[in-house]
Amino acid sequence: MNYRHAFHAGNFADVLKHAVLARILTHLLDKPGGFRVVDTHAGIGLYDLEGDEAGRTGEWQNGIGRVLDASPTPALADFLAPYLETVRRENPDGGLRHYPGSPAIVTSMLRKHDQLIANELHPVDADLLEEAMAGRRRAKVMRLDAYTAVKSLLPPPERRGLLLVDPPFEQPGEFDRMREAMRAAHQRFATGTQQIWYPIKDVKAVARFHDAVAGDGIERILRIEQWTRRPGLEGPLAGAGMLVVNPPWTLAEATRAVMPELTALLATGPGAGWRVDWLVPEASR
Ligand SMILES: C[S@@+](CC[C@H](N)C(=O)[O-])C[C@H]1O[C@@H](n2cnc3c(N)ncnc32)[C@H](O)[C@@H]1O
Repeated sequence: MNYRHAFHAGNFADVLKHAVLARILTHLLDKPGGFRVVDTHAGIGLYDLEGDEAGRTGEWQNGIGRVLDASPTPALADFLAPYLETVRRENPDGGLRHYPGSPAIVTSMLRKHDQLIANELHPVDADLLEEAMAGRRRAKVMRLDAYTAVKSLLPPPERRGLLLVDPPFEQPGEFDRMREAMRAAHQRFATGTQQIWYPIKDVKAVARFHDAVAGDGIERILRIEQWTRRPGLEGPLAGAGMLVVNPPWTLAEATRAVMPELTALLATGPGAGWRVDWLVPEASR
């Protein structure tokens, strides 16, 4: 386990992943009943953009840095609002020093009767996560293998909630494990929302993953992808995507409406683009 998210925190891929995460949470918060978020690959929770790792790559400058410097249209500002609110909450003195990872985003939005299970296997990162979550009473840190966590933590007792799967993709077979996690989660918690993140490097491997998932009998799978230049196997990450099972009703339309502007804002080279479509729609009755 060599991957350290601190090198990448706040990059273009985090911006879209976390903006979508905050919108899913906003939707779950619309109803009074409590819910649970299971974050299988939680990372360290909160990132210091002036720290050694983030400073060495500077990836955040082409991500959250650009977003905060931009003058977005009202539609994009509205789309990003719940996410940017969590970023501001971690930087109460203004500026941008602390970037919230998924556990910080989730805990800053939850109510008293909602719960986060933040799971992280790397022992050092799990210790840092414990520190970051100290005092955030709605969060419980666990140190399971992510795919064991899916099987043992679902369904949530609240019967409402979100499974976030955001692996580092440093081991071969991650797409197969994610597919298995989606199937296991669907079996245990068919009505739950799943947000499943992946990098777009090997476009053929991504297409094989999509084909396999589309044949698994899970309905309502929204695909959201963005690439800031032409994707490829070489060089730093150019593109990323996510599958959202049981997305909020408005997510497809809202995301589609802002993707041209958001992609232009985050583009780093020729061939930047995006797609938002249904990998599997709802079955017609
Ligand atoms: C991409 S980062 C997570 C970022 C985080 N979800 C966020 O949005 O802020 C992936 C994390 O998964 C952890 N990890 C790797 N393999 C794991 C496994 N099998 N089970 C649980 N965590 C794992 C890594 O240590 C790393 O911190």
